[in-house]
Order: sequence, then structure tokens, then C-alpha cells
Amino acid sequence: MSKAKIMLEKEMKTGTVDKRLFSSFVEHLGRCVYTGLYEPGHMTADSDGFRGDVMESVRELDIPLIRYPGGNFVSGYRWEDGVGPVSARPKRLDLAWRTLENNAVGINEFAKWCKNVDAEIMMALNLGTRGIESALDLLEYCNHPSGSFMSDLRVGHGVKEPHNIKIWCLGNEMDGTWQMGHKTAREYGRLAAETGRAMKMYDPALELVACGSSGPNMPTFAEWEAETLDEAYDIVDYLSLHQYFANRNNDTSAYLACSLETDRFIKTVISVCDYIKAKKRGKKDIMLSFDEWNCWFHNENSDKETMEKHPWSVAPRLLEDTYTFEDALVVGCTLITFLKNANRLKIACLAQLINVIAPIVTEPGGGIFRQSIFYPFMHVSKYGRGTVLFPVISSSKYDCKDFCDVPFLEAIGVWNEEHGELVLFAVNRDINSSMTISCDIKSFGDYEAAWHIALESDDLKATNTLDKPDTILPVNKSGTFAGENGVYEVTIAKASWNVICFKPAKIL
Ligand code: AHR
Repeated sequence: MSKAKIMLEKEMKTGTVDKRLFSSFVEHLGRCVYTGLYEPGHMTADSDGFRGDVMESVRELDIPLIRYPGGNFVSGYRWEDGVGPVSARPKRLDLAWRTLENNAVGINEFAKWCKNVDAEIMMALNLGTRGIESALDLLEYCNHPSGSFMSDLRVGHGVKEPHNIKIWCLGNEMDGTWQMGHKTAREYGRLAAETGRAMKMYDPALELVACGSSGPNMPTFAEWEAETLDEAYDIVDYLSLHQYFANRNNDTSAYLACSLETDRFIKTVISVCDYIKAKKRGKKDIMLSFDEWNCWFHNENSDKETMEKHPWSVAPRLLEDTYTFEDALVVGCTLITFLKNANRLKIACLAQLINVIAPIVTEPGGGIFRQSIFYPFMHVSKYGRGTVLFPVISSSKYDCKDFCDVPFLEAIGVWNEEHGELVLFAVNRDINSSMTISCDIKSFGDYEAAWHIALESDDLKATNTLDKPDTILPVNKSGTFAGENGVYEVTIAKASWNVICFKPAKIL
């Protein structure tokens, strides 16, 4: 058994958590929309065709914001196809995923679904095959009350109240050569700036997200961010980051260290934003929107085959990764990393929400289950709201393929003053030994250890499935604390995810 220490000091605040760190993403891709959130005729479907079992699971995650409708899909999307009478909506070829899009769900249906799950929309614009005019039309259709061509069109479609969408993504992954309408950074930066400028002429309070790189390994990474912001700094509010994690070499210790790369990625993007701010003698900080992140690698070959050999079907099974226990640990480490950077990282969208690289999986005409990654996301969304405390941690370390000095303990503390809860999120990256953590919370006076829940498994490759949905489930570890007077010892299992809560003694 190894030993580690963490001190949580009340006055060492590093940032306030923006609840939008627990956002997600719905793309018209595979079965995310069709037979995911929307399946008329399903035994749990409501009168709009929305699956009740899906809405129930989504509500458990308490997601404040959902990015829509893509992704690569958006770069070829004509939003007008998805409004008006459903019977008159065209079927289109979606070139991004070689899929037939029947447009049964569009912005009005999606907005209604979002209301049901108490989430707001983060709308992505097509800056691939389209541009400023279609962006302005969509903005007018969604946000203007009435009395203009586009707003009256919406009213005529039976939607009286405007959607009032506040956050808009200016395109998607425009640095990627796979993107329809891919651009150079200068070309993109100009288009993003001019689209954003026109949108803010309508409503200066809109929040706009410019595309950063599709990942830290892109050849243009950092230069892309600098050139894009050089053009768009005055107009935009956020720069996006995207990153997907994979364990292609089946090296778990290296896989669990990938959040160090995420931390470096975030800090590099902050540096570039601050460089442009300095260059422009700017006053505002550009904030970060990590609007796509997750593990994604399990089905790469079969996805390629589905798209190449069986193109142009509606809602094919694509990107339906079945997540393992170790994927849940990576998701936990990533969420801890996001919290550590909460002063500049304000939005993060788990990609995606249903069926497509998702925490929630459905069967058409059948049941639903929660994947391993559902639980760390739910825990941090539920208990990770408040003030992030600077992590003073001492832990032994290991070396792996891509990193030296990886701490076995990955942890962060969040203080929710309003609820009187100090919550420690902790991953033990050691796949062989459990760990005893000494938690010094003296600065919190009479706070005492209250409860501990964990995700543990002897099998790193264990999965939940429709037949066995509860193989990976959080367990209640409360009652395992030792110590008093502000220093508590808790033992966490090898390779485990943990949520440990301290509360004032009088409440216990
Ligand atoms: O989330 C899946 C895809 O990953 C998105 O469509 C794209 O933006 C990214 O490459």
C-alpha cells in the first residue's frame, strides 16, 4: 500500500466552477438523435417521440448546456431542412458520416427536448459549406421574437416563443482536412470574425466560440490558435479545444497519464490567448471551451467499414464504443484536470451524450444502460460545483511511455460553501496497490469526514452492457475513515475513482 497526502486550505482558492463544465454534445451522427433521444413508437416515448427512459438518465447527469447539431455534420448542414412540416423535409446525404439524414428532428424539436431535460443549447454554425448569411438567418429564426421574415417563419412553424440561444460556435474543427470547407487559420479567422461581428450587431450579449485546433497533435496546433485570434480576438469570447483519448497499445499506466497531456494542452492554449491579448493591448481574457472530449478508439475499424461498405442509411451504428472500467478512470482524471483549470476553462462538453461515444446507450425498441463513464461524470456534475481549492498534494510517482513523474494520486478539492460540503475527487492511478491518503482539512474548523463513494473493479476491462448493466456501479465506502482534529485518513483501492465528502460536524 502506498501513502499520499493532500492539504485542502480554505483560503487557497483557484477558481469558481462554471456549471457549464458539465455540458455535453448531441450530433446528428449514428444513433445519437434517431433511436437515441428520439424514437416515436418506443414504449417510453412521449407524444413528441422523445424516449422517456433517455430523458430520465440525462436528467441524472444534470447537464446545463448541450452543443448541437455537430460536429463534422454541421459543416454540411442546411438548418432550413429541419424546420417546418416534417413530411415536407428533404432527405439529404450527410457526407461527414456517409449517412442519410431524414431531418425528422431539427432545431425546434431539439429545443423542446432540451427544455424537458432542463438544458440550454450551444448552437454550432456551418462555416464549412455556408457562411455569414445562413448564420444570421438561423440567429434571427431562433432568437428574434416576431415581426421579421425569419422570426415569423418560426412562428408559422408553431413555435411562438424564441429559443434565445446565447452561446454559438463559429464552425467546427475548421483546421481539419476532413472538414467540409476546411480553411487555413487566416481564412477561418477572417470568416469567424466577420460572422461574429454581424451576429453581435444583432445582440452584443451573445457569447461566441472560435474553433481552436482539433487536438494538440495537429501539425498547425498553436499557430492556428494564434492566427485565428489575431483576426477574431475583439469579437469572440471563447476558444475551443477538442481531445479524444485512446489506449491503443493496451498500456493502462500510460493511458491513465493522458490527463497530464490535457493539462499541458489547456495551459498552452491559455498562453496563446494571453499572447494575443498582450499583442493587441487587449482588456479581456479569452476563456476556454473544451467542447469535445472523451475516450474514443474501441470501434475504429468497424466504423470505417460501416461507412465505406454500407453508406447512406438512416441512423447506422457508428462510434458505439463500449466503455471499460479504465475508461471511467480516464474520464475521472480529465474532469479533475478541468476543475484544476476552472479559472479559465468555463465550458466543457462530454462528446457525446447518447449511443455515439456516450455515457448512455439505448437499444431501438428496447432498453437502456449507463456505461462506466456515466458515473464519474455524474459525480463531478453533482458534487463538483463551488470553489476549487489549490491542490497541495504529495504522492509517489511513476514513469510511463509518454510521461515521467506521473503522480499516482490525481486529486482536487471543491468547496460548496452554500451546501456546507467540501468534496475531494481522487483517482488512484496505481493499478497494483491501494493507497492511504492523509487529508488535512484543519482550515475548515469543525468539518469532519462524512461519506465516501467509489468506483472499483479488479478487472480494468470490465464493461456494463444491456444484459449486465450493473457490472460497474459506485459503491458506498463510508465508515472507512480514521483520524480526528482536521486530519483524516482514507484508503482508496488500486485503480479507483473516489468521491469523499467532508461536512461541518453539527450537520452530521
Ligand atoms: O464527436 C465525434 C466527432 O469528433 C465530431 O463530429 C468532430 O467534431 C470530431 O472530430
